[in-house]
Amino acid sequence: MAALPLSQPILASDLTSDRFHAHLASLVEAVEQTLQEVIPSQTRLHHAMAHSVLGGGKRLRAFLVWESARLFDVSPPLALQTAAAIECVHAYSLAHDDLPCMDNANTRRGKPSCHIAFGESTAVLTGDALGPLAFEILADLETSADNRLALVKTLAQAIGPEGLVAGQMIDLGNETLPQTYEDLCTLQRLKTGVLFSFAAEAGAILGNRSPAERETLRAYGLALGQVFQMIDDLLDGSDNPEELGKPCGQDASKLTFLSLLGPDKLYEKATFIGEDACVMLNTLQGDTTLLKEAVRYALERAK
Ligand code: IPE
Ligand code: IPE
Ligand code: MG
Ligand code: MG
Ligand code: MG
Repeated sequence: MAALPLSQPILASDLTSDRFHAHLASLVEAVEQTLQEVIPSQTRLHHAMAHSVLGGGKRLRAFLVWESARLFDVSPPLALQTAAAIECVHAYSLAHDDLPCMDNANTRRGKPSCHIAFGESTAVLTGDALGPLAFEILADLETSADNRLALVKTLAQAIGPEGLVAGQMIDLGNETLPQTYEDLCTLQRLKTGVLFSFAAEAGAILGNRSPAERETLRAYGLALGQVFQMIDDLLDGSDNPEELGKPCGQDASKLTFLSLLGPDKLYEKATFIGEDACVMLNTLQGDTTLLKEAVRYALERAK
């Protein structure tokens, strides 16, 4: 097992604050409630959707929506519904990611993966159902038609053939496999970064903010996504599946940031990228402390 680099200072050397954890915990509760309201519960498909999207997950992408929306005084119900939509998309991607034809992972969020609990074809269809549900939620938001269109289109671009799906294709070796640090950055930007980026930008869309402010949050989200995925790679090399709620060693045969850089250099680079993400936020008005702490939280997962 690779030793995890536990001793480096994290950003400004503070630990993530109690305030961050309290906000994240209350968001987890609120987003869970919103998701319960949008996931029906009559059929076996509904139960598989609930299995995948309810009762687990760090809800970090939802937190980014919530916090960016808070910066611009977006109403809480709008922010929560948008956060719920992004969690549906994320859960779809995980139900598919765990399938035998993809990563073949039997556990997710400390529970049996969707295909273990419900069978393979239902897991495929669960993902197929959660994606469109997310777009329906966005299309129904009580905001302007321009905002709804911007959210729908930005999310479609983030997860479509030039986004998350393209990243998954590369990760599975269905396209040219990454060979360099830059290739890995492209892969991680596509499979993980673009969804983080959308989550961070969503609050600015709902708040009718300028293209420059949207761009700042988009760039911050991409950088945070890279930090997050680098630490995910690092944790994959650890031996703690109970705490992670998913198997470790899934990337053992792949080129990852861990195999390329080793744990110390990976952590150093992730910290550097995270600091850069925090600096970007300084151009925004309003209190961005918790968005900065989200970076620290992503890094601290390596502890
Ligand atoms: C898992 O994401 C997929 C990656 C991009 C590494 P998370 O680690 O955010 O998953 P949950 O939502 O907390 O389960
Ligand atoms: C998952 O990446 C990315 C998407 C689901 C789009 P990973 O395969 O690294 O995520 P884990 O490690 O299974 O959570
Ligand atoms: Mg994968
Ligand atoms: Mg996986
Ligand atoms: Mg992983």
